[in-house]
Amino acid sequence: MGIKNKNLSAKDRIVLALDTDSLEEVERLVTLLKDYVGCFKVGPQLFTSCAYDAIDLIKKLGGEVYFDGKFHDIPSTVAKAGSNLIKRGVTIFSAHLAGGSKMLTTTVKVAKETAKKFNQPEPTILGVTLLSSFGQRTLTEELNVRMNIDEYVSHLTYLAKESKIDGVIASASEAKKIRQEFSDEFIILCPAIRPTWSVVNDQIRVVTPADAIRAGVDYMVVGRPITSADDPIAAANLIIDEIEEASKTVQI
Ligand code: C5P
Repeated sequence: MGIKNKNLSAKDRIVLALDTDSLEEVERLVTLLKDYVGCFKVGPQLFTSCAYDAIDLIKKLGGEVYFDGKFHDIPSTVAKAGSNLIKRGVTIFSAHLAGGSKMLTTTVKVAKETAKKFNQPEPTILGVTLLSSFGQRTLTEELNVRMNIDEYVSHLTYLAKESKIDGVIASASEAKKIRQEFSDEFIILCPAIRPTWSVVNDQIRVVTPADAIRAGVDYMVVGRPITSADDPIAAANLIIDEIEEASKTVQI
């Protein structure tokens, strides 16, 4: 199937964050929600506790995996990490755009070659622009970057495009600008999604699913509003309804 298919249903647009340490919880959530979300996000927390056992279990239960490893290393190391994922059947993963064009282009090239060789779907590689934990002060004072956040995100998004990266992870406010500047094929995945009925937790700049759709976002990462709900299926259905409603008002 793959994340590149832009003929998306509301369900396809939801990327469920599996932020847990336990295989039992993975089994519970994937079994319960695989018909209500498009794919499952495995990040450092789950991977460092359950590694490929979690990935293999999600796949065995019929779920698609997005490995949010946010790779940032020398080109050959990141390319080999991507290649190893693809050999294990994980074709969607993330890397930091700040790793530079050599790292990005090498990773894209090796990923495509590996997918072909191992008969896997065309890989989808998403680029991290600037972590949402960064503000202007940290960008300027700690990283010594002279641009403002918007300019910096835009700069890195151009780098992503030139390096043949498939899309970026961006906030809804950034998504609006990116969608205006780049073609519809360029993927935008947006985290920190909070429906009005859910609690904010530790997220800071949150947006509703409807606002994300209106900003031109393709995929949205949702974790606790679904995984911590008393009835996760009902929570997912509410988000699906909200996405469907918002999609009627925008041309996607
Ligand atoms: O919906 P919830 O807050 O539980 O989602 C948490 C997930 O979103 C985590 O897996 C985290 O990695 C991811 N994320 C985020 N903010 C970002 C990027 C990713 O919360 N800017």
